[in-house]
Amino acid sequence: MDQYIIKGGQKLKGEVTIGGAKNAALGILAAAIMTNDNVLIENLPDVKDINVMLEAIEEIGARVDRVDRHTVKINASGIKEVSVDDEFIRRIRASYYFIGALLGKYKDAKVPLPGGCNIGSRPIDQHIKGFKALGAEVKIESGAVIAKAESLKAAHIYLDVVSVGATINIMMVAAMADGQTIIENAAKEPHIVDVANFLNSMGANIKGAGTDTIRIRGVERLHGTEYAIIPDQIEAGTFMCMAAATRGDILIKNVIPKHLESITAKLLEMGNEVEEYDEAVRVIGAASQRHTDIKTLPYPGFPTDMQPQMTVTLSLAEGTSMVTESIFENRFKYVDELARMGGNIKVEGNVAVIDGIDRFSGASVTSPDLRAGAALVIAALAADGISIVEEIGYIQRGYEKFEEKIAGLGGKIEIISSEKEAQKFKFKVS
Ligand code: UD1
Repeated sequence: MDQYIIKGGQKLKGEVTIGGAKNAALGILAAAIMTNDNVLIENLPDVKDINVMLEAIEEIGARVDRVDRHTVKINASGIKEVSVDDEFIRRIRASYYFIGALLGKYKDAKVPLPGGCNIGSRPIDQHIKGFKALGAEVKIESGAVIAKAESLKAAHIYLDVVSVGATINIMMVAAMADGQTIIENAAKEPHIVDVANFLNSMGANIKGAGTDTIRIRGVERLHGTEYAIIPDQIEAGTFMCMAAATRGDILIKNVIPKHLESITAKLLEMGNEVEEYDEAVRVIGAASQRHTDIKTLPYPGFPTDMQPQMTVTLSLAEGTSMVTESIFENRFKYVDELARMGGNIKVEGNVAVIDGIDRFSGASVTSPDLRAGAALVIAALAADGISIVEEIGYIQRGYEKFEEKIAGLGGKIEIISSEKEAQKFKFKVS
C-alpha cells in the first residue's frame, strides 16, 4: 500500500497553484447530465472522487470525453438507466447528487445510499424532505434511495439544518419543477453559488444562491454550456495552514480570497501575516504564534473541512486553544494519531482542548479520512524527524498531486510502497 514518507523541519516556501473545487465539481458533474446537449467543464480537479463520479456517469449511459485531465465533455443524451448501481459510487458521499439530477430530468431515480468519509452519521433526511415537497415519492429499499414523481411541482421548503448537499439536490430538482420553489435556511457555501451559476448557464432560473433564501423558477429544459469551476477553498486553506505550521512563506495562486476569509482571520489572530491579492493569498508563518479558539459553522463560518488542519496549526502555537466541531460529531479521530507525534490535545464531546507544544516528532500515523489525512501531512512537515502517513488513498480523494505541490515548496515528501523505498528516502535526506 502506498504511504507518504516525510522528513519534517523545512520551512515551506514558494508558490503553489490551487485546482478546481472538488465539492463544486461533484455537484456540477451530476447537474451536467440534466441536459441532452454537450456540456464542457473546465478547471476540473484530477482527484479520485471526481474520477469515480465520471465513471458512474459513464456507467448510466452518458458519454464522457476527457479533453485533458482538467477538462471534460459530457453528453447525457444516451442515458438509459435512471438506476445508478456502481460499486464505486457507494464510496463517495456525493453520489446523492444523482438523485436530484435524475429525479429533476427523468422524474425517476434509484441511487445507492451514499458512502464517503466516516466523520459522523450523515443523514439525508433534509434531501428527502425536499424531494417529497416537490412531489416525489421516496422510498429506501435494499440500501438505495428510490425517488419517483408523476410531475414535479414547486414548493416552499424550509431546511431544518443548513445542509450543503440538500440545498444543491433540491436546487437541481426545482430547476425542472413547475413553478417557483423557495428554499429557506439554505446553505451559502461558495460551491452552492457555483452549482447555481452552472445550472443558470444551462438555462435554469435560480436567484439568491449564496444567501439564506434561494428562489428557483422551474424551466422545461436545460441546454448545453461551457463552464469553469471555481478554485478549491479547502485545498487553498490547507496550504495556508502549511505555511503557518512550518513557519514558511507560501504564495497560494488561483484562489478567491473572499472564500478564505474565516481562515485568514484565524491565522492573523495567531500572529501570522496574510497578504491578499486579486487571485492569490500569501501566508508568512510567524516564528512564534498565539493560541485562539475556533468553532466550525456553515459558510461564512469556519469550515469543518479545515478543522483538522487548523488543529494541527494551533498545536504549534503558544497557550491553550479550543476547537469546537459543530457540524459533524465524529471528526476528532485523528487526535490519537497526533498524540503519537507528541500532540497534547484532549477531546471532550465536540470540543478539543489543545495545549501548544514546541515541535511534533516524526512517527508512523494513519489517515482516518480525507481532511484529517492532509492535517497529518502538515504535522509531519512541521515535525522533527521522519514520519510515515498511511492510508493516503483518503488524501488522494481530494488533493491533486499533493506530494508534488509540497515538494515544489521545498517539502521532503515521497510516495513509497516498500521498506526498500523508505530506506532509499532516508538515505537521500540524511
Ligand atoms: C458537504 C461537503 C463536506 C463538508 C460539508 C459541510 C460535499 C460532497 N461534501 O457535505 O466536505 O464537510 O458539506 O460543509 O460537498 N444533515 C442532516 N440531514 C441532512 C443533511 C445533512 O441532518 O439531510 C446534517 C449533517 O449530519 C451535518 C450537517 O447537516 O451535521 C451538514 O451536512 P451537509 O452540509 O449536508 O454536508 P454534506 O453535503 O454531506
